[in-house]
Amino acid sequence: MTKTAAIIGGGVIGGGWAARFLLNGWDVRVFDPDPEAERKISEVLGNARRSLPGLGNVALPAEGSLTFHDTIAEAVDGAEWVQESVPERLDLKQKVYAQLQAFCAPDAVIGSSTSGFKPSQLQDGREAPGQIVVTHPFNPVYLLPLVELVTTEANPAGVIERAKEIISGLGMYPLHLKKEIDAHVADRFLEAVWREALWLVKDGIATTEEIDNAIRYGFGIRWAQMGLFDTYRVAGGEAGMKHFMAQFGPCLSWPWTKLMDVPEFNDELVDLIAGQSDAQSGHLPIRKMEQIRDDNLVGMMRALGNNDWGAGALQNAHDKGREGEAGLVGSVADLEDLSQPVLTQSRVVPLDWTDYNGHMTESRYLDAFAQSTDRLMMIIGCDAEYIASGGSYFTAETHIRHIDEVHAGDPIQVRTRVIMGQGKKMHLWHEMYSGERLLATGEHMLLHVDLATRRSAPPAAHIEANLVKLAEAHASLAAPEGLGRAIGPPR
Ligand SMILES: NC(=O)c1ccc[n+]([C@@H]2O[C@H](COP(=O)([O-])OP(=O)(O)OC[C@H]3O[C@@H](n4cnc5c(N)ncnc54)[C@H](O)[C@@H]3O)[C@@H](O)[C@H]2O)c1
Repeated sequence: MTKTAAIIGGGVIGGGWAARFLLNGWDVRVFDPDPEAERKISEVLGNARRSLPGLGNVALPAEGSLTFHDTIAEAVDGAEWVQESVPERLDLKQKVYAQLQAFCAPDAVIGSSTSGFKPSQLQDGREAPGQIVVTHPFNPVYLLPLVELVTTEANPAGVIERAKEIISGLGMYPLHLKKEIDAHVADRFLEAVWREALWLVKDGIATTEEIDNAIRYGFGIRWAQMGLFDTYRVAGGEAGMKHFMAQFGPCLSWPWTKLMDVPEFNDELVDLIAGQSDAQSGHLPIRKMEQIRDDNLVGMMRALGNNDWGAGALQNAHDKGREGEAGLVGSVADLEDLSQPVLTQSRVVPLDWTDYNGHMTESRYLDAFAQSTDRLMMIIGCDAEYIASGGSYFTAETHIRHIDEVHAGDPIQVRTRVIMGQGKKMHLWHEMYSGERLLATGEHMLLHVDLATRRSAPPAAHIEANLVKLAEAHASLAAPEGLGRAIGPPR
């Protein structure tokens, strides 16, 4: 059954939440008194549809339905999750909670996007404080996985577990804080950095652009992959963290930062910062900057995924959990109909697979087919464990035909046939589709290799047996058009 989320307040953050739920298969019901809310959400949703489905390597479920409602009562009807993202004013939030709790299901979880308030401040005065938690996301909510989950003793364990489960189910990471604190964890850093940056601009040390360069050419990239402590651990050299602390500890007492001091936040400062910011990026509309940001985030997170690290490792784990629902299997025994080509990939073309022609670039066809070959290998038993034991397949020859173009965001599926599997040889035929449209075919000859000698050698008996089983079952299908083709007219 489709799950339902109510989004209360559909601005920058509420719109991002709406997209995150919707693209993960939830029905979404929105309440926002702003007559512009529908237009704003549809723009956020457009950005999300462009970037999120291709973030991972496994297709997301079918989108849920999006509806807009005139009252809170209607919006929360049937919702098991309510996400509050109204402006950051405690009196307004408290008023909204009173209305929400008059109508929402008693077992629904109400998550607040608040950047600064503690959950106890939101629970204060409520008859049922236990269903209210803080679930603080990061912009863009549809791409960044972190959610700070902040709870109090009023929250039963079941509510906390449910919150973690639902957040994880959206491909996000619930960071459950041990104690509540103003501004949680991440925004305390951001606040410190923001204060320091305001001083540097005010004192004429650096412009907004120079400060951005100091971050994006250096430590910003480091932080994105290892955070603070692992980065410093590595910086300590072989002796690690203790050495690092001994070396840099003394400077903590030097006047390096103005952290405790806040520059006077007057018109002069605002004009100075905003003026420099306009000069830096005023030529780019915000929607364009959002798209550039999303392209960069997807590219970085996918690079991290290749190393199975950080936000990329989180996405990989989410993909793994989605494989069954996407129709992907892990062994011959799990194949429902042996006689049909095997589904070896079901995904969306990611943003980083396209080129200057605006379509999927040629090298990514091989990338996709290589991933399908990897899955076929896994299905016949040539999995990570087998490879670690010393055997694998190496590709000896490839022939790809590019038949139709495909764009970022389009769904693609690859179906694979075993043309021949005997002894050391594995001859595969991949067909890539978008819906009914044939996009490309890939024909590959692989040889089984002994990883110790790096020479061809027969596979383990169970692997050859699985391969033969598939080859025999697929032999009853008509030969695929284009099999054995070389470049040029058919021979
Ligand atoms: N902007 C960020 O980077 C960011 C990041 C994380 C968390 N947050 C938090 O998310 C919340 C929302 O911030 P935002 O940046 O999306 O603000 P926003 O101004 O973009 O959106 C707020 C939306 O709430 C609507 N609204 C106002 N009163 C309402 C009511 N009574 N019922 C329903 N909707 C109402 C407004 O019409 C508006 O569309 C705040 O608590 C903020 O601290 C913001």
